[in-house]
Amino acid sequence: MSDRGSFDTNVVTLTRFVLEEGRKAKGTGELTTLLNSMCTAVKAISTAVRKAGIANLYGIAGSTNVTGDQVKKLDILSNNLVINMIKSSFTSCVLVSEEDDTAIIVEPDRQGKYVVCFDPLDGSSNIDCLASIGTIFAVFRKTTEDDPCENDALQPGRNIVAAGYALYGSATMMVLSTGQGVNCFMLDPAIGEFILVDRDLKIKPKGNIYSLNEGYAKYFDTAVTEYLQKKKFPEDGSAPYGARYVGSMVADVHRTLVYGGIFLYPANVKSPEGKLRLLYECNPMAFIIEQAGGMATTGSQNVLDIQPINIHQRVPVVLGSPSDVQEYLDIYQKHQANNGN
Ligand code: F6P
Repeated sequence: MSDRGSFDTNVVTLTRFVLEEGRKAKGTGELTTLLNSMCTAVKAISTAVRKAGIANLYGIAGSTNVTGDQVKKLDILSNNLVINMIKSSFTSCVLVSEEDDTAIIVEPDRQGKYVVCFDPLDGSSNIDCLASIGTIFAVFRKTTEDDPCENDALQPGRNIVAAGYALYGSATMMVLSTGQGVNCFMLDPAIGEFILVDRDLKIKPKGNIYSLNEGYAKYFDTAVTEYLQKKKFPEDGSAPYGARYVGSMVADVHRTLVYGGIFLYPANVKSPEGKLRLLYECNPMAFIIEQAGGMATTGSQNVLDIQPINIHQRVPVVLGSPSDVQEYLDIYQKHQANNGN
């Protein structure tokens, strides 16, 4: 707002920002339209999240989705909003949603050249206790001339054209990258627009927070156990790291991006592939973190280099400040070598 109390006409809205980036890249406008339709879906989800209690949207809808999570009403609403907004933008041909067993092929008369992988409402176990939840997405270009099919979504994260997430926290924020750095937009409910608040955000080289579900310590592999021991009892006399874990990937990754540090959902004895899904959780987050100057790895491979083999595949993930992730990697690789791998 200007000092006269009227709306500052120089604010950069997400719509304007995406339009300007598209013009600079001399694109066709299709990606701009797609991102703006995603932005509209996010605004609608944000509104639904904010009034979930009043509108009786809490509670379980009565089924279990493909990855075993209980499906909540808000998940279903969010999924429908994203699908409908993208389909009606005429920009995409294949959609992969966390909520749907198989890929959705857009009707031929509404198809465009993009493939979108998304988790419409991530962290849904946090819905009923009002902790932060979010929407995550990654956009790819279709790479073949064949009819659109599920295989079009099986591309490594390196091919991502744009990725982002919306965090429904104490405010709603959209974090977006089209491969030119990371930009953060805060939803101003007064005008219903996302406003640019952080341009070209960079992650700290090193943080002082670690984030993982430590309740699974019994099942951790030895590298994770050794790494955590070093964070709690530093051998160089430095202060121990703080521990933070919301249990919503968007909230935990966003904090890592803004404050620095490390987020881990490693493989463990019970979940040998970890829990988080490559296409619509790990890849988009790895893209954002790398664009901000951080790192994202499974331990043995950079997340963005993985060739997916199925759309709901899980992978271990460790991401965050480069120095923190490198320290984990050094320990992980030492243990691999000791185990003869
Ligand atoms: O995949 C859904 C999700 O809720 C993520 O947002 C979050 O990081 C993770 O699961 C939490 O899993 P856990 O309850 O095993 O710590």
